[in-house]
Amino acid sequence: MHARGELSAPERTFVPASERAAVVFQARAFLAIYAATVVWSLLSRSPLPCMFIFLPYSLGAWHFVLTGVFQHASLEQDVLDHRLNTRTCYVNAISGFIYWNMQYHVEHHMFPMVPYYNLPELHAVLQAGGQMPEPYASMWSVYREMIPALIKQTTDPDYCTKRPLPPPLPEARVAELRKDAGAPDADGWVAACDFGDVAPGDMLRFEVGNRSYNVYHAEDDGLWYATAGKCTHGAAYLADGLVVEKTLVECPKHNGCFDFKTGLPKRLPVKTRLATYATKVEAGVVHVQVAPRRKGGRELAYE
Ligand code: FES
Repeated sequence: MHARGELSAPERTFVPASERAAVVFQARAFLAIYAATVVWSLLSRSPLPCMFIFLPYSLGAWHFVLTGVFQHASLEQDVLDHRLNTRTCYVNAISGFIYWNMQYHVEHHMFPMVPYYNLPELHAVLQAGGQMPEPYASMWSVYREMIPALIKQTTDPDYCTKRPLPPPLPEARVAELRKDAGAPDADGWVAACDFGDVAPGDMLRFEVGNRSYNVYHAEDDGLWYATAGKCTHGAAYLADGLVVEKTLVECPKHNGCFDFKTGLPKRLPVKTRLATYATKVEAGVVHVQVAPRRKGGRELAYE
């Protein structure tokens, strides 16, 4: 279907228009390689070319299913916390090599931009933080839990495996980790950071009350911009992502993009605009207006 230049209606909702030509090209390239391999085998009267191309996949497909199926099966659905809908399971070194470290699957979903070869390191860092669920000790322990749960789901579709999570961090520790900009002044301005805190082309997250914001130092015009701190798609912290193409902020969770100067969505799956805020620099300090001016002494909610 892709080689014919077609994409299904659901695919059109998540493959950006700019990437559709690449999908078609890749499908045609694969077909051409397969066809050339078969022709090569026929002309050389040898099964070897076909064996080199088709045999590894045929032999390895069972492993793909064995490891792939336990990533999410039987767990909660429609939850944003990947610790509840994804499994990390220790596997032997050979399986880990074949599987490209995807056994660290919670970590992979939490930070999809971390390349596969750094997933063991990310796993160690997150485990040390004390907020991750206990990894499964083996595939056997996953299957022992998952198979009865899947059988139960055949008669009770609402049933799911609940993953026990560590208790949340104490309030005092959360406050310590936050970069709180304090309360806004009468005109809604807060001091977000010092001018030297954010290099051109970078961004910084800060908090005001229980709201998160991002401040950006643009690389193209050298000016400062500010937006809401959480993605409008799945509430991921945008500061955990990247500034790309000079004016876009890429969400770390599903790689959606916003223009941080206008807040406009620029790449699916994000569709809802990001709130933007006025900025000013005074005496080397970057200020963001997170709330409208108070009227008649009444405090307005800020967002
Ligand atoms: S949370 Fe999905 S793109 Fe940001």
